[in-house]
Amino acid sequence: MEPGDIIYEGKAKTLYEHPEDENLAVMEFRDDITAYNMQKVDTVEGKGVYNCLISAKLFEVLEEAGLPTHYEELLDERRMIVKRLDMFPLEVIVRNIATGSLVERLPFEEGQELEPPIVEFCYKSDEYGDPLVNRDHIKALGLAEDTEVDVMKELALRVNEILSEFLKDHDIILVDFKLEFGKTKDGEIVIADEISPDTCRFWDAETGQSLDKDIFRKDEGDVLAGYREAAERILRDDEEKAAMLPRE
Ligand code: TMP
Repeated sequence: MEPGDIIYEGKAKTLYEHPEDENLAVMEFRDDITAYNMQKVDTVEGKGVYNCLISAKLFEVLEEAGLPTHYEELLDERRMIVKRLDMFPLEVIVRNIATGSLVERLPFEEGQELEPPIVEFCYKSDEYGDPLVNRDHIKALGLAEDTEVDVMKELALRVNEILSEFLKDHDIILVDFKLEFGKTKDGEIVIADEISPDTCRFWDAETGQSLDKDIFRKDEGDVLAGYREAAERILRDDEEKAAMLPRE
């Protein structure tokens, strides 16, 4: 399929118009990788394929569990068809284990279990550095209605339950993750963007080793090998997608 014009170019993905349906879009996963609000930038050849296939699988798992997502179908190993949405300029983070920015901001111990999980909202803005926001900020800035915040929080916690269990069955601990949400033209709030090693922390259930972007953030070695390991585990029971993985 020849995609249409570019709708939006993000740090690691490009969104194109769908050639035939204005309610759909084509999302392409590139190999660019960034961290710390663009202070660290690189290209990891092949990364986009892993993120695309992992996201497709995890969206399918959520859809099968009855959760609404923007995912329609996989087009090829780097592109998927998604619903065209009005995005909320928010990042919704769910944390099961304390690490990352949480232990820098607050007196949590690295590796401490968080039960119940902690949900955070951030304002998606490069200019302001994606700051944490509370309900009052969200309402006063007109980023979302109170009821919409409730829906996003509830969906994020359901995603956490479903994906934590799925990933545990594939020898991965879901430490934390970030979601983005959008609204369809019918007003339904759905899970959007991607769910990949760029936007989640995946720890090897045995060793606690990172299989995600922390390898890049902390210069901990072979980024692609970590993503590949995550993809191989997650796609272990999905022959069709596993066959699309690049050969080593
Ligand atoms: P943090 O510990 O750096 O706040 O990250 C929490 C989770 O959110 C982690 O899984 C990485 C993800 N995340 C993003 O996907 N995009 C971002 O811009 C940030 C800050 C975090």
